[in-house]
Amino acid sequence: MTKIAFIGAGNMARAIVIGLVNNGTTGSDIMVANPSAEKRLALAEQFKVEQSDDNIEAAQFADVIVLCVKPHLISDVCQQMASAQANGAIDLSNKVFISVAAGTTVAQIQQALAGHYPVVRVMPNTPSQLGLGMSGLFASAEVSGQQKQLSEQLMTAVGKIIWLKTEAQIDDIIAVAGSAPAYFFLFMEAMEKHAQVLGFSTQESRMLVQQTALGAAQMVAQNDVPISQLRENVTSKGGTTQAALKQFNDDGLQQLVTNAMNAAIKRAKEMAK
Ligand SMILES: NC(=O)c1ccc[n+]([C@@H]2O[C@H](COP(=O)([O-])OP(=O)(O)OC[C@H]3O[C@@H](n4cnc5c(N)ncnc54)[C@H](OP(=O)(O)O)[C@@H]3O)[C@@H](O)[C@H]2O)c1
Repeated sequence: MTKIAFIGAGNMARAIVIGLVNNGTTGSDIMVANPSAEKRLALAEQFKVEQSDDNIEAAQFADVIVLCVKPHLISDVCQQMASAQANGAIDLSNKVFISVAAGTTVAQIQQALAGHYPVVRVMPNTPSQLGLGMSGLFASAEVSGQQKQLSEQLMTAVGKIIWLKTEAQIDDIIAVAGSAPAYFFLFMEAMEKHAQVLGFSTQESRMLVQQTALGAAQMVAQNDVPISQLRENVTSKGGTTQAALKQFNDDGLQQLVTNAMNAAIKRAKEMAK
């Protein structure tokens, strides 16, 4: 069986481990490594995964090494593995590295690893924690067909995926999916605030907005028609919805969304420098 190691046992690692175990991966085929004990011991107890405070032990255990630390630590973690490879403590050949770190390029990871190892960059988003994630995947030239399949299996355990043809598209995925749950949160917050101004209680406002957003998302997911058609279906001529939508258009909603997404892309490019 394919063995998978998670370097870093935080939120994203936990989400993927839960998805994998729920999809039938045996806990003993997974090892989580984390310097502090609490999170890795919790995963070990709950899902019977192997655990360690030693990244090298975890990397040695696995065929697939998932780098789940914060972006500023990726370089240190990879250099640690490169040193272990150099002194013969580990054999990194035939292993594939999967990085979920925003803003860390394949070239930076390979440079820190001191070798052209196969690297798959993944850009997931937070709904992965519920199995409702949306991830973009980019494979470096060194990644084999089988390793691509393994990466795909890993991320489909927590949601849907698309493969990207160029690494630059990772920045676009950040704008469209990675950062995007927060756009919807912001919109819902704005509606919730005004519902309170209109006199609904805190709980009522939350429920009104939450249930409406959930219903709208489900309608999009369950109807294979353009989203614009769903909008038109609920917009009677001269009615209340049309009045609200006209105001959104008059105030430049499309341009605002475009500007916000472009700001995310610009920031992603700055972070990668
Ligand atoms: N969360 C998301 O939805 C999301 C979305 C897209 C991308 N990502 C990416 O996923 C990565 C992880 O994010 P996260 O939200 O899971 O962060 P997190 O919850 O802070 O988890 C990071 C984990 O790494 C551990 N760690 C620190 N130094 C380490 C080392 N030298 N070796 C091994 N483990 C180490 C930390 O342990 P201690 O707590 O003991 O320090 C922590 O448990 C980031 O690169 C982020 O960009 C996350």
